[in-house]
Amino acid sequence: MLRGKKILLGVTGSIAAYKSTYLVRLLVKAGAEVKVVLSPAARDFVTPLTLATLSKNPVLWEYFDKEDEQGKWNHHVQLGLWADLMLIAPATSHTLSKMASGSADTFLLGVYLSAKCPVYFAPAMDLDMYKHPATRENIEKLQSFGNIWIPSEEGELASGLSGEGRMAEPENILAFIQAHLSDQAPLRGKKVLVNAGPTYEPIDPVRFVGNHSSGKMGLALAETALALGAEVHLVIGPHQLEIAEEARLTVVPVQTAREMLEACTALFDQMDIAVMSAAVSDYRPADPAGQKIKKDTDELVLKLVKNPDVLYSLGQVKRKGQRLVGFALETENAVENAVKKLHKKNCDLIVLNMPSEKGSGFGHDTNEVRLIQSADKIYPLTLKSKKEIAREIFTYILDHLS
Ligand code: CTP
Repeated sequence: MLRGKKILLGVTGSIAAYKSTYLVRLLVKAGAEVKVVLSPAARDFVTPLTLATLSKNPVLWEYFDKEDEQGKWNHHVQLGLWADLMLIAPATSHTLSKMASGSADTFLLGVYLSAKCPVYFAPAMDLDMYKHPATRENIEKLQSFGNIWIPSEEGELASGLSGEGRMAEPENILAFIQAHLSDQAPLRGKKVLVNAGPTYEPIDPVRFVGNHSSGKMGLALAETALALGAEVHLVIGPHQLEIAEEARLTVVPVQTAREMLEACTALFDQMDIAVMSAAVSDYRPADPAGQKIKKDTDELVLKLVKNPDVLYSLGQVKRKGQRLVGFALETENAVENAVKKLHKKNCDLIVLNMPSEKGSGFGHDTNEVRLIQSADKIYPLTLKSKKEIAREIFTYILDHLS
């Protein structure tokens, strides 16, 4: 859930601030990119150096860097917009009250007011402060803004008293956020099939007909679908990628187009969405040799026969409600040919790759594509990372094809 997420951790002036160091470690371990913002009072409890080292990012606490002779401006708006998720932990009663009233007298609060992402807050205070109607009113007000309250826990408090008010343990905060995100995830309960990579068609036991597809686009699609809460089946040809294990991810390795067809057909019936990004070899050697071919002759002619078209086959059995997305690689009359493929293969969307564009296509980390829903519904995307393209594809599916 948190892999690749940009998380902004706001730490305020409570003794529980020491736990923010564990929190950073847990978030980083879960695969998130973490930036920390402190309230000025938080620096009395935990050092920026510790948090910067753990988060591997600079830690900020003021609008202007007073040490910098140029008076460097720390951009609270930019930071607020950078985040996919903001967590304020610990959140003191003072901070809650300022968040509720819209005060921006600290950098942290300026960032909070600028953030457009979901904001979680984990209060930390003494039991009577936590129970006080003013605190309760502030918490309710923050919830009415859409902020998410991570309730405090019971136990021994810094005052020596015992009761409810201490900040939730870092492990519990992480579990709370993960459970909340998975409840909110737009593809929760959905099954997604992605195919990716090349296929290798044997000429003999040591040689093959293949192509340069890396599988990166397909892996980005699978990871995005996972992050959106789906159960994902990735059918992938030979590749050099590192694929992290995930409970909701099944990887099916295949070699040839016919194996890819078999694996995808077996899965497709139970799927809600299938995205076919594989570069399936259109042809295969008609008669692969059983033994390594010797170079006895001056010429070698390979007879190739047509492979099955996986996308076309799935399009033929697609049920109402299932969504099928194909890719198209075209070097001429790109849009016209892509629209033809959309209809011929009974797809709901075609992602048109423009391989001639700079930084696009096989092996690159970026891609430039057009999303084609019909001849007059064409949505161009500028050059972006394959991860961003994957995110745009699923956003389009959710917004236009649901
Ligand atoms: N595709 C497939 N099986 C094939 C060939 C292609 O499933 N044997 C799928 C690809 O995964 C992609 C789409 O069809 O989603 C379009 O692939 P592309 O290579 O652009 O087109 P082709 O259908 O192979 O047609 P052509 O090579 O003639 O352009």
